[in-house]
Amino acid sequence: MAHCLVTGGAGFIGSHLVEGLLRRGHRVRVLDDFATGTPHNLQAVEAQLAREGIPYALEVVEGSILDPQAVAAAMAGIDYVFHQAALPSVAFSLQDPLRSNRVNVEGTLCVLLAARDAGVRRLIYAGSSSAYGDSPELPKREDLPPNPLSPYAVAKLTGEHYCRLFTQLYRLETVTLRYFNVFGPRQNPDSQYAAVIPKFITALLRHEPLPLFGDGLQSRDFTYVDNVVHGNLLAMTAPEVAGQVLNVANGSRTTLRQLIAYLEELTGRRAEVAVLPPRPGDVRHSQADITRAKTLLGFEPLVDVKEGLARTLKYYQQRLAVSPPCT
Ligand SMILES: NC(=O)c1ccc[n+]([C@@H]2O[C@H](COP(=O)([O-])OP(=O)(O)OC[C@H]3O[C@@H](n4cnc5c(N)ncnc54)[C@H](O)[C@@H]3O)[C@@H](O)[C@H]2O)c1
Repeated sequence: MAHCLVTGGAGFIGSHLVEGLLRRGHRVRVLDDFATGTPHNLQAVEAQLAREGIPYALEVVEGSILDPQAVAAAMAGIDYVFHQAALPSVAFSLQDPLRSNRVNVEGTLCVLLAARDAGVRRLIYAGSSSAYGDSPELPKREDLPPNPLSPYAVAKLTGEHYCRLFTQLYRLETVTLRYFNVFGPRQNPDSQYAAVIPKFITALLRHEPLPLFGDGLQSRDFTYVDNVVHGNLLAMTAPEVAGQVLNVANGSRTTLRQLIAYLEELTGRRAEVAVLPPRPGDVRHSQADITRAKTLLGFEPLVDVKEGLARTLKYYQQRLAVSPPCT
């Protein structure tokens, strides 16, 4: 049993990771300032574990990764750090690059320094496929030259460089997992920066038009959140991975038009689509080569896109039945 710190643990991916760690008997501390995450996400995890009679040890600390004292205090006694905290939106970073940079770069540096000083065993960093940008090669291999197209992508890539540097300079073991378009329950559908799958599902369930930026033929390697948790758990203990950058994804790609067709099939509803201009900073196609994660971590995606969509749809159907939208 290890003592783990999950920064951003009240967010979408962070809360699933917290659940995965608690289910395996690890003790978990969360550091989150609730900028985009919410305590409800963790309350939902606790309620689920309690329903299943699974004992757990969870501590939630409200604080910012930009506050060195709060980060140092949160790091006390920690074996493994899962650094998920970020302001994770391309669109937000175009509007407020300074704040995006502050949290995503300075915040990461602050977490790395505290992890180094506390002598943690390993830090696993939530990297992003946005590092690849619009290079034509598909699928994206980790050794392709990066080409970030937004302040968010620059910041996430800078975080990777800092991780590698801390491994080289200070022997702090770090592993970067580059996530590709993660989706699943608890992803916020209502923020102006919401990701496409929660937006499409909730629009469909509310009988509203699905907002589609561009022609819908752009494609993504949509990755169900359980696969990302699986990758993190493997990265925690895998040997010989310090300083590595690894894609964690499904390894396939789906266009937004295909996504809409899947959702129509799953719900039995016909989607009305509102076509909007393409967004600046968006890449055209994205698909991961997951060979390196397979080789070094023994990673295999556990849940495919269609099964992930079915599970996600079920979650929003239950959620919207409980709290219908305000009119
Ligand atoms: N969702 C994706 O498809 C995706 C893809 C690639 C990478 N990522 C990365 O995965 C991580 C988690 O993303 P997510 O989708 O769960 O987003 P999220 O917004 O749900 O989670 C981010 C969490 O970080 C917290 N946070 C933000 N600023 C903070 C600060 N200053 N101090 C402490 N906590 C702070 C938020 O409150 C939130 O709980 C991020 O690092 C993101 O860049 C996500």
